[in-house]
Amino acid sequence: MRAPVSGPAVLGALAAGLFGAVAVATWAGPPSGIRFNHAAHLRAKIDCTSCHLGVMDPAEARLPLLETCTGCHKDAPGANPGKQALARLAAEGAEPRWPVPSVRQPDHVFFSHPRHVDVAKLECTVCHGEVVNATEPPRTRRMSMYACEGCHARHPESAGATRARFDCLECHR
Ligand code: HEC
Ligand code: HEC
Ligand code: HEC
Ligand code: HEC
Ligand code: HEC
Repeated sequence: MRAPVSGPAVLGALAAGLFGAVAVATWAGPPSGIRFNHAAHLRAKIDCTSCHLGVMDPAEARLPLLETCTGCHKDAPGANPGKQALARLAAEGAEPRWPVPSVRQPDHVFFSHPRHVDVAKLECTVCHGEVVNATEPPRTRRMSMYACEGCHARHPESAGATRARFDCLECHR
């Protein structure tokens, strides 16, 4: 199913690995017939938030709606199976059905994207580096508590350096 991991992808995974985002080699199959290719879109310099604005703004969708895709893909799909699947959805006016993101945390963990992106000024790829080279849908693991501790250090001196505290009740509300 999945191509062997290339050298640069391994380096990227190691960099992302500090935060425990390990790619899993199982991918059950695309519910909407679209094997979404992050790498093709990131090469075209498209911002993460053109498709994932909802992680920053709760009034928006976290995963892209049909109109987000068709806003750019208006032309005839040609021979590309993903573009053909998208054109079928557009003809039916049906929303793509994306799988539940595998990065999602259980209810007892509180996480705020604006706090990390707007306030702490972190790039998306610090925590989601594995999407950069992903040519098919990223099936990642959610971050472990240990991965959060890469920044939220238990030792006050290192916590001071990153401004990220280690307070049980901040993350478990
Ligand atoms: C901001 C513009 C933009 C948006 C939004 C966008 N795309 Fe694309 N897409 C591109 C560009 C640019 C490429 C690369 C050139 C090409 O193949 O057309 C591409 C490539 C593709 C390809 C071919 C890549 C491959 O695997 O070979 C598919 C399929 C595709 N997009 C589907 C989608 C879907 C589904 C969505 C919505 C989730 C979407 N696109 C949203 C611009 C966009
Ligand atoms: C053109 C639209 C588009 C762009 C740009 C885009 N994504 Fe995505 N992303 C998607 C779609 C569609 C999915 C759902 C794919 C699926 O699961 O089949 C997704 C899924 C994800 C997921 C969930 C992965 C999981 O484990 O389930 C993460 C995290 C993510 N994207 C992060 C990013 C980041 C970070 C960027 C920028 C570096 C980015 N995306 C850019 C369309 C996009
Ligand atoms: C400090 C680490 C970190 C940064 C930086 C970060 N994320 Fe996330 N991301 C997470 C965690 C943790 C989750 C799971 C959150 C949850 O379940 O509530 C997540 C979930 C997601 C999801 C899945 C959304 C869903 O429906 O559950 C997407 C898409 C995503 N992030 C995209 C982004 C984008 C785009 C950016 C940059 C604007 C970004 N992330 C920056 C850690 C991060
Ligand atoms: C790349 C570094 C980094 C990672 C990884 C990270 N955080 Fe943070 N986090 C920060 C920083 C820096 C702040 C402080 C932002 C500010 O100044 O308010 C913060 C703030 C927070 C806050 C606000 C309360 C507080 O203690 O300051 C919560 C809650 C939080 N993070 C949860 C998480 C969770 C849950 C994870 C793992 C899923 C995580 N973080 C991973 C850097 C990180
Ligand atoms: C920076 C955020 C953060 C802080 C601080 C934090 N946790 Fe966690 N904790 C997490 C995340 C993320 C998970 C992993 C969720 C998962 O993968 O199931 C977790 C998991 C756990 C679990 C496992 C729950 C289960 O489902 O098995 C326990 C118990 C727990 N934490 C207790 C604590 C205690 C006690 C403290 C304070 C000493 C603490 N945590 C501080 C983020 C944090």
